[in-house]
Amino acid sequence: MTAQLVSSSKPRILTGDTPTGSLHLGHWVGSVKRRVELQDSHECYFLLANMHAFTTRSEDPLGIRRDTIEIVRDYLAMGIDPNKAAIFLQSEVPAIAELTFLFAMLLPFNRVMRNPTLKTELELKGLSEKFSFGFPLYAVGQTADILSFRPVGVPVGEDQVPHLELTREVARRFNQMYCSVPTDAEDEDHEKLGGVFPVPRADVGRVGRLVGIDGKNKMSKSLGNAIFISDSPKEVQKKVNKIFTGRQSATEPGDTSNALFQFVDCFIADEARVAELKDRYSRGDNIGDGHIKAELSEAINALLTPMRERRAQFEGRDDLIVDIVHDGTARANRLTEQTLLRAKDAVGLKFWPRTLAM
Ligand code: TRP
Repeated sequence: MTAQLVSSSKPRILTGDTPTGSLHLGHWVGSVKRRVELQDSHECYFLLANMHAFTTRSEDPLGIRRDTIEIVRDYLAMGIDPNKAAIFLQSEVPAIAELTFLFAMLLPFNRVMRNPTLKTELELKGLSEKFSFGFPLYAVGQTADILSFRPVGVPVGEDQVPHLELTREVARRFNQMYCSVPTDAEDEDHEKLGGVFPVPRADVGRVGRLVGIDGKNKMSKSLGNAIFISDSPKEVQKKVNKIFTGRQSATEPGDTSNALFQFVDCFIADEARVAELKDRYSRGDNIGDGHIKAELSEAINALLTPMRERRAQFEGRDDLIVDIVHDGTARANRLTEQTLLRAKDAVGLKFWPRTLAM
């Protein structure tokens, strides 16, 4: 668990999560699987947005702390390797907070409030006129989360794209205002022309929206329709058996785009087998939902078994998790302190160097 990756020549990426609770199969399909794949070819930074968690949950600091540790346990279980990727705490990277303040000056207030992701969240959470001053500030903060690392790309879901647009605007404006990058410069050329920040792209993967076991809504902890990474084999079986299709009998021609088959497509790897199941199901060739569910449970449990084994090493070992996050945060600080110094230099705020001891 050392710092071997700090000056890697691999392309650098950053992404993160706000800690809201245990991770489930929807997280795996939608983003974590991809991160596990990227960690060999990329220099990876994974941010625990524990400060952002305070925007809507400031009355529950202990819950935020618990969820922050839990998300790391799930990352490790799913195969994120702390020797490759740096997992770090937003709250312990001061460069992020300092850049947030500077970047807040580069964005008109109304521009921040026009962000559709913010608007949706305000509606969904019923915050309308009651939101804190800090709530919209998180969108500015997210531009600093990203730009502190000067990444080439940010792997995210569709819902985060507006945040990336704001980030790209901040990078351009900063480079133009303080680094003499011409206003007509191409995004790819900003660093070459002396800009401190690259203009990073949103790297939106093949949309992996997994339906929940209710067969209707997106899988989500709060809707009670999730299969968690930490569920036991029995629990998985029980939950899979609940997946709702509405089909009556094994001889009724079935719809292979139903919820059950969305799971089959995600978790049964053998394509020939999937094709065969679909063929028989659609013809009502004496194949019941129960049969498909048994194969599906087995496939999900085969995916989760190594995750359970890795998880077991960290069960009740918050000390190990804190060590890993400490190491990742130290790496994050080495990089972001460099960025911060360059940014301060550009805006005339560089007076003397500093070192952060952790
Ligand atoms: N807003 C993201 C979410 O809720 C979490 C996040 C914070 C993030 N900072 C980030 C994601 C920087 C990508 C990059 O899921």
